[in-house]
Amino acid sequence: MSDTVIVARGLVKDYGRTRALDGLDLEVRAGEVYGFIGPNGAGKSTTIRVLLDLLRPTAGEARVFGLTPAAGGPALRARIGYLPGELALGGRISAGEHLHHLAALRGGRGRDAIDALAERFRLDLARPVRTLSKGNKQKVGVIQAFMHEPELLILDEPTSGLDPLLQYEVLALVREASARGATVFMSSHVLREVETVADRVAVIREGKTVDVDSVAGLRRRAGQRVSLRFAEAPDAAAAAAIEGVEQVRVDDHTLTCLLRGEPNELLQWAARGRVLAWSARDRDLEDLFLDVYRNHGGLAAAEGDHDAR
Ligand SMILES: Nc1ncnc2c1ncn2[C@@H]1O[C@H](COP(=O)(O)OP(=O)(O)OP(=O)(O)O)[C@@H](O)[C@H]1O
Ligand SMILES: [Mg+2]
Repeated sequence: MSDTVIVARGLVKDYGRTRALDGLDLEVRAGEVYGFIGPNGAGKSTTIRVLLDLLRPTAGEARVFGLTPAAGGPALRARIGYLPGELALGGRISAGEHLHHLAALRGGRGRDAIDALAERFRLDLARPVRTLSKGNKQKVGVIQAFMHEPELLILDEPTSGLDPLLQYEVLALVREASARGATVFMSSHVLREVETVADRVAVIREGKTVDVDSVAGLRRRAGQRVSLRFAEAPDAAAAAAIEGVEQVRVDDHTLTCLLRGEPNELLQWAARGRVLAWSARDRDLEDLFLDVYRNHGGLAAAEGDHDAR
């Protein structure tokens, strides 16, 4: 399909006896920013390396712009800006020489953007790459991924090692790329950044996709944390029977619960008593994500959050 940029079907990758990918599925549409999250060792970088043909899958299939990464070869690679998770940069050449060399390999594409990006990220192009700090190396990686304005960006933890200002700058680059129509596939552990920049999110665990949803859909599923203080002790069982109301707790005259869906019924029930104070706060997506990191289910299994504990 032409509007699907990345497809993976039943991807399996074994490293010896370690099964890194265990039937992973993925579908990234043209023009979307797609967040790829999951705990350490879940298989994010392995998936990304398969998409770039740096690794061959043990079983299953991946396609990028309709081509298998192996069949696509350099022509496919030229359409992708890739930021690896662990950037290996060595040698005596300066950051500027390194980036200009890459631009030359790409037929000059991106050469004119180097100086402006270096200024934006405060990267000293004269420094030899091997002497750069971790964050400064990351800047080189970011610039080489974005400078030629590729149709597809595949970013493995793009903000890793960068200070908050530059993290923000990378997200701005992602938004700009998206605005000019590029597709962005990015792994991240910074859940808030995925929440702010992504259109859709896939959660993976142990080499499998356990959940895919839009950020808006996730927000709906995350629900609201509601607190109601009554003049009289409220009836917890009656509240728990209301549709969409979960995790009811009553502490003295205060009832707290998780509300998913419309508040109408809960409000009508509450108004039958005398409400002294109330609050409703959108539950963080971070709470939902953390659950995936903690237990074995997907997001649907999410239970509890920071302030419920
Ligand atoms: N070269 C390798 N040889 C052997 N095992 C590997 C190799 N690379 C990765 N693995 C294993 O494959 C699994 C998936 O690793 P991968 O790097 O894809 O995870 P990840 O989701 O990117 O994790 P992280 O969040 O830590 O970057 C892990 O169990 C890891 O130990
Ligand atoms: Mg990784």
